[in-house]
Amino acid sequence: MTKRAYKLGVVGLGEGRSIMSAALASERWELRKVCDLNEELCRSREKEFGFTAWTTSYDELLNDPEIEAIAIYTPDQLHLKHVKMALEAGKHVICTKPLLPSLDGAAELLEAQKRSGKHVFVGQSTRYFEPMKRQRQDFEAGKHGDIHTVEAHYITDGRWFLEKDWSRQKGFSWMYGFMIHAVDLVRWYLPEVTEVMGFGLNSEANRGYGVDSWDTMRFLLRDGDGRIGQVSGSYTLPTLGQSVEPSIGCVIRGSAGTTRGEYSNLVYHTHFAGEQPATAEMEHLHDYFFRFEGKSHHAGEYQNYIEHFAECLDEGRTPLPDANEAIRTLAVMVAMERSIREGGRIVRIQDVLDEYLEPSR
Ligand SMILES: NC(=O)c1ccc[n+]([C@@H]2O[C@H](COP(=O)([O-])OP(=O)(O)OC[C@H]3O[C@@H](n4cnc5c(N)ncnc54)[C@H](O)[C@@H]3O)[C@@H](O)[C@H]2O)c1
Repeated sequence: MTKRAYKLGVVGLGEGRSIMSAALASERWELRKVCDLNEELCRSREKEFGFTAWTTSYDELLNDPEIEAIAIYTPDQLHLKHVKMALEAGKHVICTKPLLPSLDGAAELLEAQKRSGKHVFVGQSTRYFEPMKRQRQDFEAGKHGDIHTVEAHYITDGRWFLEKDWSRQKGFSWMYGFMIHAVDLVRWYLPEVTEVMGFGLNSEANRGYGVDSWDTMRFLLRDGDGRIGQVSGSYTLPTLGQSVEPSIGCVIRGSAGTTRGEYSNLVYHTHFAGEQPATAEMEHLHDYFFRFEGKSHHAGEYQNYIEHFAECLDEGRTPLPDANEAIRTLAVMVAMERSIREGGRIVRIQDVLDEYLEPSR
């Protein structure tokens, strides 16, 4: 039986370019209309995709009764407002990471989501990269045995990002804007992280751009069973290059095996008990994941997550990560911030959740 296509609207056509590409290539989605305040950008997306249904008014997407889901790719600081508007208009939401640039407004957002009865899916894109998907399959098959540690990093020279106005405004931080990919990977495997401690550095390079946020950070996390997580991020330093040092990596070490998924290398390393170490290369998927110039966008991840969203809608399942899960990841980051401010003190995640979410429980 052919499954029906859901109708999608997109707001924010910078990174939203990837979801336009994904929706136009999907049998499960019909791209109905896109929106950006910047008319010139709308015209350039029209030219690029031959897609003429654009508007500069978000209200036009909200008021279109045909649109079932809105995908939000506006600056981090606008997500709360745009997600709430979409829910109040009766739409499902796909929101890029971070769902919010802090926990402010988290209780309000959860209330709005509950009231609407609609889904809020958060585009933690790295989970949907092929090596990370394979690593997850091995984890779910129990191939690692008992997990002892999960180590994730996101290390990139992100100074180019500071050219965007909103990255130098209140609410942007390297932790919520970038390192969240690594934090999300650790939480994916250690969902019940209970405490965290770490250090951060706000360097001269960073301050030169007028940005007041730590640009190098290192953290240790622990769950209730004593499993250890490790998260590293550095954002204004030269790197060794993708071939030596993949920008995002996730290593899982367990009693029966160790694996490493890499981004943006299409490579997955494994060593399971009783087997030789192996490396699976997936270069044949390069053009699926990286559809535009260089590796600046990674539309294949967005393709994978909108197909997941459509399947969940078909089957009445919750697409993951949802708002609840994303907010728990944000709570880990609030605890990380506290730990840095307090000289590396161990901070309990539950204390943060109690403080911010008590009203909505
Ligand atoms: N891996 C990932 O998942 C990934 C990668 C990059 C960026 N992002 C996220 O995507 C979001 C956008 O980042 P970006 O790099 O595209 O930024 P950007 O500044 O290039 O694009 C944001 C766009 O939103 C538009 N916009 C702002 N307010 C609007 C409004 N009220 N109505 C309509 N359009 C509006 C702007 O005109 C701009 O074109 C951010 O939240 C960022 O963190 C996610």
